[in-house]
Amino acid sequence: MRNIKRRICFLTLVLGFSTFVRSQETIEAVEQLLSQMTLDEKIGQLNLLTPGGGIATGSVVSENVEAKIKAGQVGGLFGVSGPEKVRQAQKIAIENSRLKIPLLIGSDIIHGYKTTFPIPLGTAASWDVGLIQKMAETAAKEATADGINWNFSPMVDIARDPRWGRIAEGAGEDPYLGSAIAKAMIKGYQGSDLSAPNTMMATVKHLALYGAAEAGRDYNTVDMGRLKMYNQYLPVYKAAVDAGVGSAMTSFNDIDGVPASGNKWLITDLLRNQWGFEGFVVSDYTSVNEMIAHGLGDLQTVSALALNAGLDMDMVGEGFLTTLKQSVAEGKITEVAITEACRRILTAKYKLGLFDDPYRYSDESRPAKDILTDGNRSLAREAAKRSFVLLKKQEDILPLKKKSKIALIGPLANNKNNMLGTWAPTGDPQLSVPVLEGFKNVAPKAKISYAKGANITDDPDLAQRANVFGTRVEIDERPSAVLLKEALDLSKEADVVVAVVGEASEFSGEAASRTDISLPKSQKRLLRELAKTGKPLVIVLMSGRPLTIAEELELPASILQVWHPGVEAGNAIADVVFGDYNPSGKLTATWPRNVGQIPVYHSMKNTGRPIEGDNFQKFKSNYLDVENTPLLPFGHGLSYTDFSYSNIQLNKDEIEQGESISVSVEVSNTGAYDGEEVVQLYLRDVVRTVTPPMRELKGFKKIFLKKGETKTVELTLRPEDLKFYNAALEFVAEPGEFEVFVGTDATADLKTSFRLK
Ligand code: BGC
Repeated sequence: MRNIKRRICFLTLVLGFSTFVRSQETIEAVEQLLSQMTLDEKIGQLNLLTPGGGIATGSVVSENVEAKIKAGQVGGLFGVSGPEKVRQAQKIAIENSRLKIPLLIGSDIIHGYKTTFPIPLGTAASWDVGLIQKMAETAAKEATADGINWNFSPMVDIARDPRWGRIAEGAGEDPYLGSAIAKAMIKGYQGSDLSAPNTMMATVKHLALYGAAEAGRDYNTVDMGRLKMYNQYLPVYKAAVDAGVGSAMTSFNDIDGVPASGNKWLITDLLRNQWGFEGFVVSDYTSVNEMIAHGLGDLQTVSALALNAGLDMDMVGEGFLTTLKQSVAEGKITEVAITEACRRILTAKYKLGLFDDPYRYSDESRPAKDILTDGNRSLAREAAKRSFVLLKKQEDILPLKKKSKIALIGPLANNKNNMLGTWAPTGDPQLSVPVLEGFKNVAPKAKISYAKGANITDDPDLAQRANVFGTRVEIDERPSAVLLKEALDLSKEADVVVAVVGEASEFSGEAASRTDISLPKSQKRLLRELAKTGKPLVIVLMSGRPLTIAEELELPASILQVWHPGVEAGNAIADVVFGDYNPSGKLTATWPRNVGQIPVYHSMKNTGRPIEGDNFQKFKSNYLDVENTPLLPFGHGLSYTDFSYSNIQLNKDEIEQGESISVSVEVSNTGAYDGEEVVQLYLRDVVRTVTPPMRELKGFKKIFLKKGETKTVELTLRPEDLKFYNAALEFVAEPGEFEVFVGTDATADLKTSFRLK
């Protein structure tokens, strides 16, 4: 035993020492290179260009990219993939630019590379950080096989406004869960060695508060007090920094009147000085130039503002490339600041191993071995089925018997174009499994008939706007009454009706905010009419955001939320619908009753006039027309089986500052199926110097219980879980009482309490 310990100690020392030696070598090499660089060459490294071919999310695509690489005016590219193309690009840099500096090759690999996983809001609903890490590892393996060494992910923005289309791209409303997921993704992408050929550098984005855009309209202004920022919105970015993320991307919005890309407080004071971030900071797509439209001056002014704020790399806009030299000459910025930005970018390139071998990610034999393998596709199926959330159980309709006579209805029931979801530019919709095909694969003996029943939407404007990246909404020219009749006729013949409805992929995502987040009218009508047939009804709901489905929830139907499930969509949905997998997902963003309730989230404050119960009370904090509670709470998600909670215990009644406390609870599977449950712990700091949220998620564990089984589950509250930022922005735990709630969602009422001395 002692020998083993000694060996471990020795190994740790050797590893520690070699990391130290490597970072010393990197520092020396970077300084050596910097000493040879002209001002122009240093400025050149600060530019990220895209020659086109990817999704141009701004209006600009870079021109004359080859000439610019030769002239040493490019630090990195994105929108380029495939080992040969990447090799060609690196070759231009290595063989034709004076200093032979290799390029960063970036990409948006948001939920899988070619093997597309569910949208991030869906994978978050699995509450399975191990699985999420594995997906990120797989994405890194596929992307690096295709030449990419730098990923613009994870997007960690806390989103409490489902009108905002990019809620689809993140983990939802909660900083505790969001931080755990951010860490897992970064670990998955970066591994333990950034220079390994199958790992890539991650980017935490979008710094900061992008998800709090006013009224949920994309790119809109953000106005937020420091306490809310520090306690609710910033912890996720900090968690990413703590996890060693290599780069950070600024957001489009302004904060306190200064857009993130020019915000010195954000980039330098907070990110670098307070949090100790050592990587480099890239702007978002033309976000430096956009400061002109924000009203902060001309291109030279805003570029200088960005550099002085601490921004290192300018994405696409070329403001750095075209104006920084003049700003140095005019004394508006210093060469020292440029050198510093260049130093950070070169350091990242060293860490990626690009100076040892610029062609490290250009191995032509890899794509065939590593991309879209059977193993990767089965991981996508696994991830998808674990992301589904059973929103409502109607009697025992689900799971379906594999020999049933099924009417499979709906505009998304036999559709490939919407399975991948938003921000999947590297995936191919044609490779995805439609629901009809999945049903046939999993239940070959079932008798399945199919009808579209309705268009995704009958609104041609909405359809056109959702079709920016290809046809997502195909409008069937047959009259809607004909479509409906066909569906109703089939339904009347069937044992059970499964309706696959919801949003097209591009109803959510970037620049896809909606003020009405209910189902399109065409589909609402379809569901109403299907319910009237009296046949058992299953609604399979796809969306990139929480929807307002108060009316549908009243229908006599079971409802399974499947997000946009990725390349294995149909198979995964069939796995769950036919009971090969018992759903275990839980919502990570609250579903509102109506848009007027937004924002509504689980960690709201009590106010000075809280209501008792749900009934309207005059002069209390409530609405005249709708109750305060959401339609579906954070953490909600049912199972084919049932779980009950009892016997909550603490290992102490009182703890000292700096001590942890353990909470245990008995969870029983009281239903008829084996199943998984996400045990959730919420904490309420009863009295403190700044108003506390009513409760906050501070722990969770996903467990498996056989039917009839009971397990004691233990969760630990660490000292930092009791802390918050006070009025002086100090991170403290204040003495007093804490209430602990454990249960199946954010309304958990099994409760105990302890005191912090
Ligand atoms: C998005 C970023 C993305 C970038 C590059 C922008 O429009 O906001 O999230 O990384 O485009 O594709």
